[in-house]
Amino acid sequence: MTGLRRLSFRAGTPADAPVLARAVADGFEGYRAWAGPAWRPPDEASPRGVRELRERLAAPGVWSRLALDDGRVVGHVLFEPARTHRDWDGLVPGVAHVAHVFVDEEWWGTGLAARLLEAAVVEARSQGYHAARLWTPAGQARARAFYAREGWRENGATRFEPGLGLDIVELTITLRDDESAENADTRRFTG
Ligand SMILES: CC(C)(COP(=O)(O)OP(=O)(O)OC[C@H]1O[C@@H](n2cnc3c(N)ncnc32)[C@H](O)[C@@H]1OP(=O)(O)O)[C@@H](O)C(=O)NCCC(=O)NCCS
Repeated sequence: MTGLRRLSFRAGTPADAPVLARAVADGFEGYRAWAGPAWRPPDEASPRGVRELRERLAAPGVWSRLALDDGRVVGHVLFEPARTHRDWDGLVPGVAHVAHVFVDEEWWGTGLAARLLEAAVVEARSQGYHAARLWTPAGQARARAFYAREGWRENGATRFEPGLGLDIVELTITLRDDESAENADTRRFTG
């Protein structure tokens, strides 16, 4: 089999943390192509990075989907309830935060990333979220073009992300209209 048909898909579990952390680290390595010679990628595959991702995968409300080629993870997406700040507990009502969209370079341009992102959007909508957001590096032109093509819109928010050492921009997508969003909020926080 060729193309996406050869892939299988499943939810991620805390046991996947080492593999997914390595995928994120490899994705960040690729940023060297445009981030400039002085930039150093964070080591997401460090013991601390793996531990944090393991905890994240076990946290309430976290949803992930992994794409596997003959048992090997070649892409994944992960979303969680949006927070007012990375280290704070406050939730942004009704908003999902897409934290990871990472695909191995050999699968770029195949439609896999679009398939994973769409699965996350469909799931977030069915869970009652009325919008989703994500942040991506300002210099990551490929990701920005990808998200724009998939219907996400940049809202002008930008900030420096110290953990990454890069400026990042925010993108959002509406999942439900306002009326259903009110119901969605209720379901989301009583569920
Ligand atoms: C971002 C990512 C998930 C996108 O998946 P992908 O398979 O590469 O995306 P696609 O090929 O479907 O779409 C990329 C689009 O960017 C365009 N593009 C490619 N390089 C570009 C560049 N340098 N500048 C502008 N647009 C570019 C492509 O032409 C394509 O648009 P089109 O279909 O309208 O022609 C994938 O590249 C990836 O995993 N990158 C590393 C990790 C990462 O940055 N993740 C996002 C973190 S938030």
